[in-house]
Amino acid sequence: MNFDEVAREYSRVAIVQKNAGIRLIELLRIGEKDDVLDAGCGNGALTAVIREITKGRIVGIDSSRKMIEEAKKRVKGVEFYVMRVEDLEFENEFDIIFSNSSFQWFDADRALERFKACLRDGGKVGVQAPARKDYSPTFLRAVEAVRNSEIGKIFKHFRSPWFFLDSEEEYIKLFERHGFEVEHCRIEKVVTRHTPEELLKIFNSGAVAAYLNPKFYEKADGVDEAYRRKFLEIVRREFENMAINGLVELVFYRVYILAVIFK
Ligand SMILES: C[S@@+](CC[C@H](N)C(=O)[O-])C[C@H]1O[C@@H](n2cnc3c(N)ncnc32)[C@H](O)[C@@H]1O
Repeated sequence: MNFDEVAREYSRVAIVQKNAGIRLIELLRIGEKDDVLDAGCGNGALTAVIREITKGRIVGIDSSRKMIEEAKKRVKGVEFYVMRVEDLEFENEFDIIFSNSSFQWFDADRALERFKACLRDGGKVGVQAPARKDYSPTFLRAVEAVRNSEIGKIFKHFRSPWFFLDSEEEYIKLFERHGFEVEHCRIEKVVTRHTPEELLKIFNSGAVAAYLNPKFYEKADGVDEAYRRKFLEIVRREFENMAINGLVELVFYRVYILAVIFK
């Protein structure tokens, strides 16, 4: 399972990422002539929102070919490229970089070096991403049930690919180390309520791209279709166990960062 496989279903299920993204767009106050880079744009649903705000140039990049295919179908008037953030080659071309729910997947140091080069003097980057090792106690509880199950012996080889820092200070230091002035940095605890079925869809829209991807297992023997099915079955059961009056409280820690570069 990776983002190519998630792509087609993504728009139906990416509720959580989208709400957080709209908030990031509001925080960024994109001007009507700003040139914007959407880094890790996914299926372009939020790039489309940005297209409504600015008449400037918009570029969306994502490492998943399928996501970019979806984005091209969805939004017109945007340049979309299959590209890794770490390989960005633009120089002084953007006023704003927008990156929603993707930063945890990046090599943070390399991404920030590339962001710095892409931005014009005084340009701004806005990042929203899950934060803290316990990024979602709700998801982690479900994953713990997998660890304690009969497929735990396979799951114990999983190595998280995600980049998380535990405090606002650490995120500020990271951005400052790359020459950014941090205007805003907050880790927010976001609590929403969902049926177990909805929750499984949310889990499917992002987390599975790591948990069910053999690439992120030190030993991937046994990470096959049967394992995936069993994994999701256990997660579903755990979500059902957590429900009170049919609803589960989903807790997510999210960091919002706005940072400016002066060259
Ligand atoms: C959870 S999705 C978020 C998509 C979109 N920004 C949104 O908020 O709906 C994360 C995206 O990051 C992309 N991605 C992961 N690693 C990447 C990298 N190194 N460079 C570019 N894109 C990457 C994935 O392909 C995926 O589309």
